[in-house]
Amino acid sequence: MCGIIGYIGPKDNLELGMNSLKRLEYRGYDSAGMAIIEEGKISSERVAGKVNELREKLKERDSEGTPCLFHSRWATHGKPTKENAHPQFDCKREVAVVHNGIIENHKELKEMLEKEGHEFSSETDTETIAHLVEKFQGEGSSLEDAVRKTMELIRGAYGIAVISTKDPEKIVAARMSSPVIVSSNKEGGFVASDPAAIVEHSSKMIFLEDGELAVIKRGGVEVTDMAKRKKEKEEVRIDWDIKEAQKSGYPHFMIKEIMEQPETIENTLRGRIIKEDGDVKLGGLEQVREELKGVEKLTLLACGTSYYASMIGKFLIEEIAGIPTEVDLASEFRYRKRPYGRREAFAFISQSGETADTLKALEEVNNKGALSLGIVNVVGSSISRYTDAGIYNHAGPEIGVASTKAFTSQLAVLTLFSVFLGRQRNLSLNEGREILEKLESLPSKVREVLEKKDEIKEVAKKYGEYENFLFMGRRYNFPTALEGALKLKEISYIHAEGYSAAEMKHGAIALIDESFPAFAIALSDSMREKMVSNIEEIRARSGPVIILGTEGDEGIKEYGEDSILIPEVTEPLSPLLSVVPLQLFAYYVAVSKGFDPDKPRNLSKVVTVE
Ligand code: M6R
Repeated sequence: MCGIIGYIGPKDNLELGMNSLKRLEYRGYDSAGMAIIEEGKISSERVAGKVNELREKLKERDSEGTPCLFHSRWATHGKPTKENAHPQFDCKREVAVVHNGIIENHKELKEMLEKEGHEFSSETDTETIAHLVEKFQGEGSSLEDAVRKTMELIRGAYGIAVISTKDPEKIVAARMSSPVIVSSNKEGGFVASDPAAIVEHSSKMIFLEDGELAVIKRGGVEVTDMAKRKKEKEEVRIDWDIKEAQKSGYPHFMIKEIMEQPETIENTLRGRIIKEDGDVKLGGLEQVREELKGVEKLTLLACGTSYYASMIGKFLIEEIAGIPTEVDLASEFRYRKRPYGRREAFAFISQSGETADTLKALEEVNNKGALSLGIVNVVGSSISRYTDAGIYNHAGPEIGVASTKAFTSQLAVLTLFSVFLGRQRNLSLNEGREILEKLESLPSKVREVLEKKDEIKEVAKKYGEYENFLFMGRRYNFPTALEGALKLKEISYIHAEGYSAAEMKHGAIALIDESFPAFAIALSDSMREKMVSNIEEIRARSGPVIILGTEGDEGIKEYGEDSILIPEVTEPLSPLLSVVPLQLFAYYVAVSKGFDPDKPRNLSKVVTVE
């Protein structure tokens, strides 16, 4: 959840580090810090605030040295104070550590170290690492051996980068269940928790595996395992344009990413549709193509927004491919006793590819020997590497903490995947072709919805003061309602619930009065009439209603105080379109309340702890 950076090389270290850290701020933003080896000593700066506050502090400094470390924190152990900010240090300030993750046995280790005379100055679990490295270096180990010995003692999840004045020409990085990427070129050597941080300097990156340790020097990177065996690592090419990781004139990443959706869906579809065959080409599934033909049951596993995309994926796969499909929250999956069938496959859906809950569910499936697939946006991420095969979203970097373009690209991938599976089964050429033609027409329809952004902004302004909100839909748009509610609560802090409109009468309708508005997704589809009845039930209890309807259906407007109409779209693909006004609504409510939608409180973009 925290962002870590390390740099060693000839460039202006502070500028480089701060620019990279800024790109990682979405991972955590309650405190920030840096440390650098200058003239044989570690000097540092830490703030209990955002990255910009650290940048202000650093303006007063003139540091030329490397190696250096930078960190943006999402607190797990200890409040977001200056003392708890990273880097964390050993007793003599000869070792500095930045860490993403949780050290589960830090209390026992701290007790042991205190008995040996180590003095702690923070409440963090991370500080234990610094003292352990100090201990082992004191016993004569090199920095990498000291980190390796530390890894033998610590339990939990970590991506770490460590520097030491005793071994000042290197950074040592290590990984256990938290992403670490290393890279080196003529500009120097880099460590980061996310490709977005360093893609500006190097497009070729090495992703560390669990239990691996990298020594980054000016001339290159060497990776070894716990037994000190040298590992030959493949460099992964990240083809992101740096502009994709910048706001490009927009006030926030979230609105930039919402507005990018026509292009991101096009990118997801590019080169994958074979219209004449009514079929789909998914290179990442080629090696398991034959195995997939025999699959009789699918389970989709994900968290948060990706979970809601999976719920829609279930409908798509069952309707288009005719395969019974289950959806489960990745976090819950491994805690239930689930019988495994012989012809089952599991798909893991994740924007980041690093969500700890999803990774743990994947570990469980891999241990059972079942076929695992990934639907992932970040190229080279853990889920993409630990699954048997998979499909990349190609949505480009998503920086806004609230997921938007990743969701629509996941839906586009799930539609392609459904047609791919369907054509292996009973889906006819014409049926396949029809779905794909409709899918291809979606980007231009999304553009039309985006043109209504000012209209949606006006509606949002009217509703910002409510304390509760309901989002409701049916069938394909029930998960869209859940996603609309999640968007509103995570960035505007308004309590919002997503409901199947039919379920309201089984309890939640008791909450409705004039202070509890509802956003009703009532498109001109198979559920329109049922939705109208459910809306009437809300209105009968004085609940204000915003209607999301279909253009041309003027009659639907009479059921709401406000209405937004979107272009006509076939029902299975409708969430790709209907979610866009909900994203814009949440964004404008948050902005009208003065909140920063890119940095919602208590949240982190990549949730690398369970
Ligand atoms: O990277 P992932 O797709 O695995 O992330 C899953 C969730 O943490 C993520 O979707 C989260 O719910 C977002 N903040 C939603 O906007």
